[in-house]
Amino acid sequence: MAAFLSLLPFVAAAVAFAQSPSATVSWNNVTGTANQAFPTDVGFLGTMGYGEQPYNAQNDKLNSSEFLQTYGIETRWKPKDADQDKANSDDIFRNLGTTSPYRAADDLFPETNQYRNLPDECVIKQVHVVHRHGARYPTSETSEGAPMFGEVIANATKDNKLGASGDLDFLKQWKYPIGAEVLVHQGAQELFDSGVKMFYDYGKLLDNKTDHKIVVRTTSQSRMLDSARYWTLGFFGWNAPQQVDIEVLTEYENQNNSLAPYEVCTNSNKDSFRIGDALAVQWREKYTADAVKRLQPMLKGVKLNAKLVYGMMSLCAYETVGVGYSNFCNLFTKKEYEGYEYDIDLQFQGDYGFMNPTGKAQGVSLANEVIDRMSQTEFDQAAGLENTTLNKNKTYFPVDQRLYVDFTHDDVIQSLLTAFNYSQVADYLPIDKPDPNRRYRSSRVTPFGARLVFEVMDCGKSGNATRYLRTKINEAVVPMDQDQGCSETKPNGLCKFNEFINHQKQNAIKDAKFQLVCFGKNGTDFTVTGPVTNGTV
Ligand SMILES: *[C@@H]1O[C@H](CO)[C@@H](O)[C@H](O)[C@H]1NC(C)=O
Ligand SMILES: *[C@@H]1O[C@H](CO)[C@@H](O)[C@H](O)[C@H]1NC(C)=O
Ligand SMILES: *[C@@H]1O[C@H](CO)[C@@H](O)[C@H](O)[C@H]1NC(C)=O
Ligand SMILES: *[C@@H]1O[C@H](CO)[C@@H](O)[C@H](O)[C@H]1NC(C)=O
Ligand SMILES: *[C@@H]1O[C@H](CO)[C@@H](O)[C@H](O)[C@H]1NC(C)=O
Ligand SMILES: *[C@@H]1O[C@H](CO)[C@@H](O)[C@H](O)[C@H]1NC(C)=O
Ligand SMILES: *[C@@H]1O[C@H](CO)[C@@H](O)[C@H](O)[C@H]1NC(C)=O
Ligand SMILES: *[C@@H]1O[C@H](CO)[C@@H](O)[C@H](O)[C@H]1NC(C)=O
Ligand SMILES: *[C@@H]1O[C@H](CO)[C@@H](O)[C@H](O)[C@H]1NC(C)=O
Ligand SMILES: *[C@@H]1O[C@H](CO)[C@@H](O)[C@H](O)[C@H]1NC(C)=O
Repeated sequence: MAAFLSLLPFVAAAVAFAQSPSATVSWNNVTGTANQAFPTDVGFLGTMGYGEQPYNAQNDKLNSSEFLQTYGIETRWKPKDADQDKANSDDIFRNLGTTSPYRAADDLFPETNQYRNLPDECVIKQVHVVHRHGARYPTSETSEGAPMFGEVIANATKDNKLGASGDLDFLKQWKYPIGAEVLVHQGAQELFDSGVKMFYDYGKLLDNKTDHKIVVRTTSQSRMLDSARYWTLGFFGWNAPQQVDIEVLTEYENQNNSLAPYEVCTNSNKDSFRIGDALAVQWREKYTADAVKRLQPMLKGVKLNAKLVYGMMSLCAYETVGVGYSNFCNLFTKKEYEGYEYDIDLQFQGDYGFMNPTGKAQGVSLANEVIDRMSQTEFDQAAGLENTTLNKNKTYFPVDQRLYVDFTHDDVIQSLLTAFNYSQVADYLPIDKPDPNRRYRSSRVTPFGARLVFEVMDCGKSGNATRYLRTKINEAVVPMDQDQGCSETKPNGLCKFNEFINHQKQNAIKDAKFQLVCFGKNGTDFTVTGPVTNGTV
């Protein structure tokens, strides 16, 4: 038990990064070619780095007569000028975009909230879950804000140039304390809790036995594999391996993997197609300008800029989930956190969503698989970059389950919503002026531990029932409409199942234009000059 709970091996002060041993990995070791049907020891774990051990009992100086309501992590910080702005902790921790700790999206579709109970005449028949991994460390690339700020401070300290005072006084003792990419304890908690909740919600569906263990899929990256393990632990308990097979799809260059499409859809990886990143950089100059001016006088030896302030704001997110506590959180105002949220919204809508020409193409492989399972049709033809060798084998692509769970990344969930044309979150995001009433917010759609759930249900008298589909984004029921093929828009969000399936079969693959947008040449096969509105060219 103790060994299990200690997710992070003891690492003293040093933050160590280890590159995965992918180059030396045995290909005899991967799903479909190993001598076991469901190996979990496949290699391709990605970059892995461990951070400092937390010490909140020692370090946390927030008023502890007010009880901490979250698990271990300190989320009672309020933004700077909270009283004057009538701001509270949610203005920080629900504005951290995709790095927000998991919260149900209670405010995403308020109009369906009062209809969340299942109608009495409906019985759930299948559930399809697409799950993001839980909270993790950032990447170690210094092109990212948090590690860059860490290195800048380390350099200034080393050169004896650093001077810090006022709100930034803490930087005198500060060292970048976090690791890289692996799941942190908060992330393990998010996935375990989700497994427990979904057991209570859907456990009954497993009364209908299949002649094989339930297959859940994930990818080979460390945080993905660990997320699948913690979720199955929550759902099935200690003997999960007797009840479930974890299918590990290799995440590596040229490996077809519907749960990590960017390895193959080549255009999506090019800087010129990363439209969201470019927009975010422009927006960043605006919302960080005040903070640069305010904080610079307290910092000597480092010239602050938009990127570094963005890095400091992401340190609030990553230190909080990584070591449980961050002195960066109350340096910024409510308005600045709203700016930070929008920065990440731009990145995700612009790189993987409706504003990217490869948005639908990046999600269409998984969309095709979801449709096959919903309609209980054996895999026939790839829509994009599914691995046909695996999917044509029923062991690896069963369509007879009641419950399906795929673990994947935030960007893939975003692209799947785009491929299925969930225009409810298709907001076009201008960089001059964020719409405070927009629907799409990455903190609501793909926070850490996000889950997109499709419930297939039969409604009406037995023998004469009609099949319906309901979609939930982090518990919020999506008000489905004609953009997903539903002929009626119902207040409870239900859509006729056949209408959805037929609409997707007719449109999703065609509209994604997978071959064209993933492998075509800009200027010859199509011309992309900036953000699009419909996730394709
Ligand atoms: C499907 O995969 C299983 C497990 O690896 C293997 O035993 C079986 O031969 C495969 N079936 C086909 C048709 O390739
Ligand atoms: C699979 O790969 C991992 C990582 O390289 C290695 O440690 C392990 O021994 C391999 N297992 C098998 C069965 O080859
Ligand atoms: C801590 O919080 C309690 C309860 O809200 C309050 O009574 C007390 O004054 C606070 N202490 C400090 C030092 O702010
Ligand atoms: C830190 O210093 C090293 C060595 O001088 C340099 O290569 C690196 O670019 C610096 N990092 C940053 C983020 O400025
Ligand atoms: C299990 O299957 C039986 C027979 O097909 C069906 O009547 C029943 O509703 C199913 N139960 C669930 C929970 O899906
Ligand atoms: C498909 O999966 C098989 C079995 O894991 C693997 O050997 C093969 O390399 C994969 N092909 C591609 C193109 O991803
Ligand atoms: C992998 O995806 C590519 C791109 O769509 C496709 O051409 C190829 O046939 C796929 N390979 C397998 C094994 O599915
Ligand atoms: C079945 O449903 C249809 C349409 O909802 C209705 O017209 C028909 O009377 C129903 N039949 C039975 C046997 O209930
Ligand atoms: C997708 O949604 C857009 C609205 O954003 C709509 O104009 C379009 O017709 C929809 N596509 C399909 C195939 O329904
Ligand atoms: C595509 O080509 C056009 C015209 O040459 C250019 O303006 C645009 O930046 C290119 N877009 C991408 C995504 O490369």
